[in-house]
Amino acid sequence: MTERADLRWVDTHAHLDDRKYQADQLEVIQRAMGAGVTTIINIGADLASSRASVKLAEGSPGLYATVGVHPHDAATVDRGALDELRRLAQHPRVVAIGEIGLDYYRDLSPRPQQREAFAAQLDLAASLGKPVVIHDREAHDETVGLLSEWARGGASRAGVMHCFAGDLALARRVLDLGFYIGVDGPVTFNNARRLVELVRQLPADRLLLETDCPYLTPHPHRGRRNEPAYVPLIAQRIAEIKEVSLAWIASVTSANAARLFGLEV
Ligand code: NI
Repeated sequence: MTERADLRWVDTHAHLDDRKYQADQLEVIQRAMGAGVTTIINIGADLASSRASVKLAEGSPGLYATVGVHPHDAATVDRGALDELRRLAQHPRVVAIGEIGLDYYRDLSPRPQQREAFAAQLDLAASLGKPVVIHDREAHDETVGLLSEWARGGASRAGVMHCFAGDLALARRVLDLGFYIGVDGPVTFNNARRLVELVRQLPADRLLLETDCPYLTPHPHRGRRNEPAYVPLIAQRIAEIKEVSLAWIASVTSANAARLFGLEV
C-alpha cells in the first residue's frame, strides 16, 4: 500500500504534452491529483514542447512548466530560439530552464553544438534568475565542469540533475554546487542495487521525486506508460531504503521542490 490520502507529492519532471497522453491527458492529471500528486512540473525539451508546457501550466492548477531545448535538438538553438525561450520563460508559471545538458550516449547532435546550446541556456537561466533542469547522459565530467563554472557566477544558481546516473563521487560534486538529485522509477527495479546504495547515502533534503513520464515506469507497472500518479511508488522505495516513514519523505521532498523551484506546495 503506497497511496495515502493525507500525503502531498510533487512530480518535478513530467512530459504530459507527449503524444502518449493525447487521448487522456486530463484523466492522467486527475488521477495524479487523486493520488496526492498535487503539483506537477512539466518539462520542455524543444521549442514545441516548451510552448505546450506553458499552455498546459496555464490551464491546470497545480501544474508548472520549464522551457528549454534538450541536447538531442541542440542544433536548433539559434538566436531566434533563445529569444523565444526567453519570452516563454517570463510567464509566471515557468519555474526553470530545462531540460538542457549533454547527451554523449545517443549523440544525436554534434558535441560542440551540444556544448554551445547548453552554455547559452545556462546563461539564459542566470540572466532570468531561474534554476536549471539538467540532462546528463555519459557526459558526467563535462556537464559538472560546465555547471561548476556556471554556479560560481552567482550564489543563487542552482538546479537538479535529472534522473541522476553517476556515482557517489559525482553526486558529492553536484551537492557541493548546491544542486539537487532527481530520483526516478528505476530505483524501484529489482536490479537497481547500485542506485539503491547511492540513494541510501544521499541526504534526503537534496532529493527530488521525478517520474520522467511517459518513460521510466516504476515497478509494478514497468513496461507500461508511466504517469505522475506513480510518484508515491518511487517515494515508497526511497522510504524503505532510508528506513524512514513515507510521510517524512513526502514532506522533505515537497519542501525541496518548493525551495528549488519557488513553488507553493
Ligand atoms: Ni525528461
